Amino acid sequence: MTSTPIASKIIPKATRVHLDPNTIDYTSDRQRNAVEALINEFTISTQLLQDVKANFMEGMNKGLQKDGETMAMVTSYVMGRLDGSEVGSYLALDVGGTNLRVVAVHLTGGGEITTRQTKYRIDEKLKVGEAKALFDFMAVCVDSFLDEHQITVRGDTQFELGFTFSFPVLQTSINRGTLISWTKGFNASGMVGKDPVAYLQDAFNRRHIPVRVAALVNDTVGTLLAHAYNNPDTCMGVILGTGCNGAYIEKMENITKWKGDASAKEMIINMEFGAFDKERAILPLTMFDNKMDRKSVNPNKQILEKMIAGMYLGEITRNILLNLIDRRLLFEGNISADLNQMWTFETAYMSTIEADSSATLHATRKILESTLNFPSTTMNDRQIVKVIVELVGKRAARLSAAAIAGILEHTGAWKQKAAIGIDGSLFEYYPSFNTDIMDGLEEVFGPIVRQNVSIGLAQDGSGVGAALCALLAAKHSN
Ligand code: GLC
Repeated sequence: MTSTPIASKIIPKATRVHLDPNTIDYTSDRQRNAVEALINEFTISTQLLQDVKANFMEGMNKGLQKDGETMAMVTSYVMGRLDGSEVGSYLALDVGGTNLRVVAVHLTGGGEITTRQTKYRIDEKLKVGEAKALFDFMAVCVDSFLDEHQITVRGDTQFELGFTFSFPVLQTSINRGTLISWTKGFNASGMVGKDPVAYLQDAFNRRHIPVRVAALVNDTVGTLLAHAYNNPDTCMGVILGTGCNGAYIEKMENITKWKGDASAKEMIINMEFGAFDKERAILPLTMFDNKMDRKSVNPNKQILEKMIAGMYLGEITRNILLNLIDRRLLFEGNISADLNQMWTFETAYMSTIEADSSATLHATRKILESTLNFPSTTMNDRQIVKVIVELVGKRAARLSAAAIAGILEHTGAWKQKAAIGIDGSLFEYYPSFNTDIMDGLEEVFGPIVRQNVSIGLAQDGSGVGAALCALLAAKHSN
């Protein structure tokens, strides 16, 4: 059992060890030109940062006006704010990242939380199989979690569960909605247009598992709530992990498409910003992005997400490496059987390569030679790989900054004290991601933004946030 308050904390991760491309001893002019061309293509200038931000804000406004726009700007039905005094015990089921997690959350008030959790691996086949099988698996995980932790209910009462289902869902109430589309490699059949809560509740009922799905939550909304539990200035929740997306608090009067109860002053909006620029109007897509997109399970969708999120960065990098190899500008034109396979270059390798501080690029060598089975590499190969990794990683962080800047500008939150809670493996583990984001924000707003806006890790935003959402749902219905 852990007992950790959800506090913003200093993020214990490595920083990027920048490799200046000018220090590379190029083997030929062709090689130098190829690297310089990549630098040009992947660098997000301050001007482009501003342009993406402006375009992003237009997308936000469109999505607030009507359904069916590129950025869905989903109304979450979460209207109240938290003050940290909330108490209660809830279950949370978190689906939408690499693992499925079941969490028992105990809110003890004063911003304090205790949690117990178990992670379960979702088989790739389940992600793209029959929807019913996927939801049955979720119910089985909750059941075995209750068994494992010997959690029981008294009499015929039920557990209240917050269901973090992190996909674009058009919500119709706090615990109802219809799936707009799958993202992040999920593509279970027969689900689009259906209510994920109905599927989950049905799977519980068929097994007589005493659980009621009280709230349907996006991970970004959960992250915002979890961060707000002990940081009331929180105005935004962001996920930078397998996928990417953001949620923020919007004034009711700006949500012109909202036809429901307008007595509340504000509501959290799940933006689904990973879908930004489906029109390909502004994002600097390269042939390496396009190649990856075509081979993904959802081509032409989630264009911004595919330039930012952990699920895709490794594959973009792999495509660049293959291109240089094919032109005999890297590894003397030789490829390893491992690197030849799609998705084998993991984003986690990029983290290690970014942080490699050794004179011989030892960690980079280990990944290339021991993990990816290249028989040998030269210093020149390793330097070029490192430069490419940095280009892809930094572009992702700067595009995240453009999106966050768009939200800060739209709400005006950058002008006052504001906190942003971010969760996800990329933010937590990728070297210098947070620094790159802050630098980007400073380029847009000037140094004042560093004084006003704080970015903190909202660890376990999805689990704790789902519990908080279930609590708000109960509060609202009473
Ligand atoms: C994808 C999903 C979105 C989620 C994000 C982060 O973009 O569509 O709902 O918030 O990934 O997990």
